[in-house]
Amino acid sequence: MTDVAERLQALRDRGLHRRLRLIEGPQGPRVTLDGRAVLLLCSNNYLGLADEPRVREAAAEAALRWGAGAGASRLISGNMEAHRSLEVRLAEFAGYEAALLFGSGYLANTGTIAALAGAGEVVFSDELNHASIVDGCRLSRAETFVYHHADLEHLEWGLREASGRGALIVSDGVFSMDGDLAPLPGLLELARRHGCRLMVDDAHAVGAIGPGGRGSVAAAGLSGEVDVVVGTLGKALGSYGAYACATPETIDFLVNSARSFVFSTAPAPAALGAATAALELLVAEPERVDRLQVNAVTLREALVAEGLAPSSTTQIIPIEVGEAEPTMQLCELALERGVFAQGIRPPTVPAGSSRLRLTVMATHEADELAAAAKVIGEAARAIGLVPVAA
Ligand SMILES: Cc1ncc(COP(=O)(O)O)c(C=O)c1O
Repeated sequence: MTDVAERLQALRDRGLHRRLRLIEGPQGPRVTLDGRAVLLLCSNNYLGLADEPRVREAAAEAALRWGAGAGASRLISGNMEAHRSLEVRLAEFAGYEAALLFGSGYLANTGTIAALAGAGEVVFSDELNHASIVDGCRLSRAETFVYHHADLEHLEWGLREASGRGALIVSDGVFSMDGDLAPLPGLLELARRHGCRLMVDDAHAVGAIGPGGRGSVAAAGLSGEVDVVVGTLGKALGSYGAYACATPETIDFLVNSARSFVFSTAPAPAALGAATAALELLVAEPERVDRLQVNAVTLREALVAEGLAPSSTTQIIPIEVGEAEPTMQLCELALERGVFAQGIRPPTVPAGSSRLRLTVMATHEADELAAAAKVIGEAARAIGLVPVAA
């Protein structure tokens, strides 16, 4: 039998033990964290829709109208009007003919990848893809070729080696821990040339980039061409759940084959009501996306002025430290000064690349972002990450 206490101690010894922090009240730009008022700089509530009154009301109304739970999986008796209507809206928003809801992004990725690739085939996955993609590859029982980050030459080499066994290329659209973009036109060209499908996980791109916040696939002008686009309702859309967009035929196939869809209770009405209202607000008020992007520039420039050089171009702004321990020191020092940006350690990021992953929201004020950059700069000097003179 595994000794849990020993395993926990091993995590502590390696600086990798994590604990849950507690936030009081809704997710907003400022929160009370473990009893302390802080600026929240690590939430994926990018557009401020999770705490938007109209979205909260829509969640309550949906629960009153349709009940607290769906009661069963979609294929048994859980398929409700609220699922169907949100799928139609999501597909239209993304520029696809059809969409399918999943319980979460984790379930959308694992279920979709395992449905679209199988034993004897090969899945091609970027080395910095999200863990839910990694797990989908494992579940598929296909061979997985992990290509160097955004490296089309390495991917092409792998595709040639697979000699026709390639089933699927899969990539984050915006990489969750780095904030950079996948080379989508190149990925699609390789997919077409080698007879593979292309799947893009736009979890951090929807609501954040592209025309009207339609994500990285739309930004590249490839809506309807990338075979499967996954989005989550739990980040910019402020709710919970996720969806895959594809052709009606592929969606029909997922309905029949994606095990995380078939064997799991349908998403709850309150989450659907919130996501529907959030999507309506995103369409009606695209300036929220502009505000998010302006805030990202404000924070990035303020960090550069502090001698920190974050490399991303999106709302996800990593400050790489290296080892786990100094990363958590930096996190705690910033927290003591009222700024919360969680330290990110392996296995979320590769060993030796622990970091603070800062994320801005459309609802942050410019002056609080400038002040936060100063706090982080001070903390970075205190741990020797940047020279004191910088
Ligand atoms: C790139 C990416 N894909 C998928 C997920 C999972 O989405 P969800 O939180 O809806 O399960 C996440 C979130 O953590 C993510 O960062």
